[in-house]
Amino acid sequence: MSLPSRPLRVLLDTDPGIDDALAILLALASPEIDLAALAVVHGNCALSEAVRNGLDVLALGGAAHIPVAAGCDRPLLRPRFHAPEVHGVSGLGYAALPPSPAAAVAEHAVDLLIREVMAAPGEVTLVAVGPLTNVALAMRKEPRLAGSLRELIYMGGAFRIEGNASPLAEFNVYADPHAAQIVFTSGAPITIMPWDITRGVRITDVHIGRLLERGGPIAHFVAESTRYYMEMHRVRLGFAGCSLNDPAALALAYVPELAVTRPVNVEVELSGELSVGKTVADFLGKTDRAPNVRLVEQFDGEGFVEHFLTRIEALIDRA
Ligand code: BDR
Ligand code: CA
Repeated sequence: MSLPSRPLRVLLDTDPGIDDALAILLALASPEIDLAALAVVHGNCALSEAVRNGLDVLALGGAAHIPVAAGCDRPLLRPRFHAPEVHGVSGLGYAALPPSPAAAVAEHAVDLLIREVMAAPGEVTLVAVGPLTNVALAMRKEPRLAGSLRELIYMGGAFRIEGNASPLAEFNVYADPHAAQIVFTSGAPITIMPWDITRGVRITDVHIGRLLERGGPIAHFVAESTRYYMEMHRVRLGFAGCSLNDPAALALAYVPELAVTRPVNVEVELSGELSVGKTVADFLGKTDRAPNVRLVEQFDGEGFVEHFLTRIEALIDRA
């Protein structure tokens, strides 16, 4: 896929969330991207917290003018599922940001997604880094949406590894498996960045020290939010540092060459008592279901981490 000469119009559907916040900062730091709006969804924290976090992180990055729309506050069918033990009750770990002067727009995130995409069919890249409730409802409300996206890049799913929300399922899919199934079978051009890959894409204290050397509120925010996130990774996942799940997915919008992808059919387990939310890929063609996504199988994690740090350093210097 060739990149356009002007910045890529990007919508970010997100549940900020610590790594979501880092993805927002990376988007603001990346001239290849024209960040059109945040569509906020339930997930890591309650919707009201996620909206507040989205607004405050944009303001931190000098972009309080970018619209933030509140979306769905719960999954389509299953009970709400948040992750305070991973992101803190506020969603941003130990960080406390000054309140943004901006407020959320009145438009619902589902309507914003439809309006933005249908205004420029084939031109908008949707990066979804939370549960897919908003996106699924938008596809139901506007059936032309799936065919009108330039690309849908999704962070989610655990394929060949254990889950991080249940023994089998990754958080974003587990938090609304029905929505994920609607989206994966929608016919949209989908690239999936799974937990299989992102759990190994990590920053550590050493990287945080490098950012702190530059000083300023952005470096302080990254340090305080990831300090909580790293504690969680050490206690719950047994490794040092923290995963850059959502930033790694965002980067695929403008540096797709970081990844090697494979076309495959992916469906979501919806009824298994122990397996609900598991993403099932037909790697060996055991069914007659055609490939419906491009799954990231390899990723230059080291190259990406350096790219991420360089971009955040530039944002810090610009602030
Ligand atoms: C995903 O789940 C959330 O907790 C993160 O923000 C990320 O989008 C990783 O499984
Ligand atoms: Ca997220």
